[in-house]
Amino acid sequence: MSLPVRSAVLQSPAYPFTPIDAPTKLDQNESPYDFPEALKKLALERVMGLAWNRYPDLNAESVRRAVARFEGWDEAGVVVTTGSNVLIGLITELAGMGRRVLTVKPSFSLYALEAQLLEGQLCEVPLNADFSLPFQALKRELERGEGVFYLAQPQAPTGRLDPQEQVLELLAAAGERWIFVIDEAYHQYSGSDYRAIVRNRANVLSLRTFSKAWGLAGLRAGYALTSPELAREIQKLVPPFGFSALHSAALEVALERPEFVLERVGETTFERERIFSSLQNHSTWTVYPSGTNFLLIRTPDLEAAYKGLLERGILVRKQGGYHALKGCLRVSVGTPDQNTAFIAAALELG
Ligand SMILES: Cc1ncc(COP(=O)(O)O)c(C=O)c1O
Repeated sequence: MSLPVRSAVLQSPAYPFTPIDAPTKLDQNESPYDFPEALKKLALERVMGLAWNRYPDLNAESVRRAVARFEGWDEAGVVVTTGSNVLIGLITELAGMGRRVLTVKPSFSLYALEAQLLEGQLCEVPLNADFSLPFQALKRELERGEGVFYLAQPQAPTGRLDPQEQVLELLAAAGERWIFVIDEAYHQYSGSDYRAIVRNRANVLSLRTFSKAWGLAGLRAGYALTSPELAREIQKLVPPFGFSALHSAALEVALERPEFVLERVGETTFERERIFSSLQNHSTWTVYPSGTNFLLIRTPDLEAAYKGLLERGILVRKQGGYHALKGCLRVSVGTPDQNTAFIAAALELG
């Protein structure tokens, strides 16, 4: 029996992820460190003091205020949801349904998935062979039509950070016809920051997450920084009272004491470069430069590399599904000990 469901949904694949248990989990670009225990305790104390019988803020006002203070942004231009992936769905609903959804390929898979689910006209422009932006082709696409453009900076899953001048030219080509999304999920690890560019452009948006540098993937929280006008429209699509008071208490604690993030990002970027340089002399693997908390690595035989690592207790993510990433795996930067184990395993597998 076929279900009375839109065919776009029936024909879309589910999000491609299979949980696998392994002693060294380097497959989801998480922080290897939990939220600091002292802050967890503080958050729990606040949660205990809340009235659970009451609805939370209508639109996560207390967290939006805290994010606005932290980012130096107008609170009216902040939208908070349970993960930045929720925002990708909502922005596609806002500007991509029945219109154009433009991105590069390979890219974060959710841009294309949401476009498919919401019947957007998906256009994925292939990256150049060195993963640089297909700049002229993107400009041509942006110069015609309207819709939503998703660009991760740094990119995922390649890890590459593109020159800001190129993004500025793309912004000029897009004019005011496109909702221009700069997904900055990993920006702390590259030191890049598009806030100054997003400011004063009503149709441009920076997407940020608590899942990576903040080490709060389990909490589920992300936000958009944009103009008050665009934030107001996105907010209409967010379910009312959609952000729980428990979430809010934990995030407020994190945003009041963000110092731990900087230290961890420092260690992760140092460790990323250690893995990168250790693999330079690998006999068969090629590691690509990264501005994120993960590295993309090309191997001559993905299945053998993946299996060999897993046999040594190390779980990474296969990326070979994209034609341009044939043989590639993605490894998250872990603790120094985990990284040492990964380097040893990788060199052994050469
Ligand atoms: C580029 C990019 N954007 C967004 C996300 C989603 O993050 P969140 O955990 O906030 O939903 C990810 C997660 O891996 C990502 O890689």
